[in-house]
Amino acid sequence: MKVAVLGFGTVGVGVYEMLGQAEGLEQGTVLVRAGKNDAAFKRTSIEDIISDPEIWAVAEVMGGIEPAFSYASAVLKAGKHFVTSNKALVAEKGLELSKLAYENNAGFMFSAACGGAVPILHNLSLAVESDKILSISGILNGTTNYILDSMQRLGLDYEEALKDAQRLGYAEADPAADVSGMDALRKIMLACAVAYNMLPTEGLLNEGIENITAEDVKHFMVRGYTCRLMVRGGRTDESVYAYVEPVLFRAGAPECSVMQNNNMACYEGENSGRISIIGQGAGRYPTASAVLRDLSGILSGRKYMLRENCRAVKAENDKFKQLYYVRLPEAMASLIPAESVDVENKTARLITKPLSVQEMHSKAAEIRKNGGKIFFAEIGG
Ligand code: HSE
Repeated sequence: MKVAVLGFGTVGVGVYEMLGQAEGLEQGTVLVRAGKNDAAFKRTSIEDIISDPEIWAVAEVMGGIEPAFSYASAVLKAGKHFVTSNKALVAEKGLELSKLAYENNAGFMFSAACGGAVPILHNLSLAVESDKILSISGILNGTTNYILDSMQRLGLDYEEALKDAQRLGYAEADPAADVSGMDALRKIMLACAVAYNMLPTEGLLNEGIENITAEDVKHFMVRGYTCRLMVRGGRTDESVYAYVEPVLFRAGAPECSVMQNNNMACYEGENSGRISIIGQGAGRYPTASAVLRDLSGILSGRKYMLRENCRAVKAENDKFKQLYYVRLPEAMASLIPAESVDVENKTARLITKPLSVQEMHSKAAEIRKNGGKIFFAEIGG
């Protein structure tokens, strides 16, 4: 079965190469930008792909919303299967694309958009058929894990570690999506859609790692904590919770052993218990392997990750309370209800009273609005 590839960057080249060796799949044409059509298998017009009756499926690995969305819509309307690694596309347009896919009896899969090679969406989409997913969590951004790990184990400062992550190709073209937690947030949105049949599109909260300093790292490391940027999602009565924030873990927690740019995706099934999968969340062949996994799935009859009636919901992040570690200016410390406060050089470091995710993120926004610099992290297991 011939597969066309949209985009011939890092992942596109990997997908194309792997198609040459995959059972039941064949290399089709590749869509490239005008001026880059320097080989017989390359095209610059999506029409050439849509109108080619030999093309059975299309793998989109170009990223961004447009033109990816227009191309995806045209592919699905033509009744061809569509597989993508594009998390922004699925987070924003996934429900529209899913509708088109069902209407045209075409497959729509996006394993590679969440966790790279780590088969979290694949496993969730199978698990929901026979188990109830109680919660989802994990480290789903390699760039921020690399930065945190480099700061904690190697003593690098933030800027140095970020530059390394960019040089090694882990970061997005604009690393703001990584360090702000936005990239990880899109991934938990997709995981909730697969696990709960609800795509949270409002009420989402993400705190990244842009505000962490080497001083913060020293401070919580001497207290035996390791920091990781975590996604969390799960059911509430009416909807789901879904958020991203730094979390401090005690030595020995499995999250502490996730080094460099690795991802760790976890879910808890009512019957399966906790399942954790660790592996490469980005890069040419790891991401391409997830695209190929979806294509093989379609070949064997598994065409969808989203159910036909999946709907958009507002996330509810105010349903449970937890403790936070917070660093902020001493003069603003009274704005946060605290169990304990340490003050040194006009900087307060405190452990909060139990706060909901919504409350903690709102307090941080208020402090920033008033010109205060704040770092906070949930105190995890
Ligand atoms: N920039 C992303 C990361 C790439 O660092 O995880 C994979 O989605």
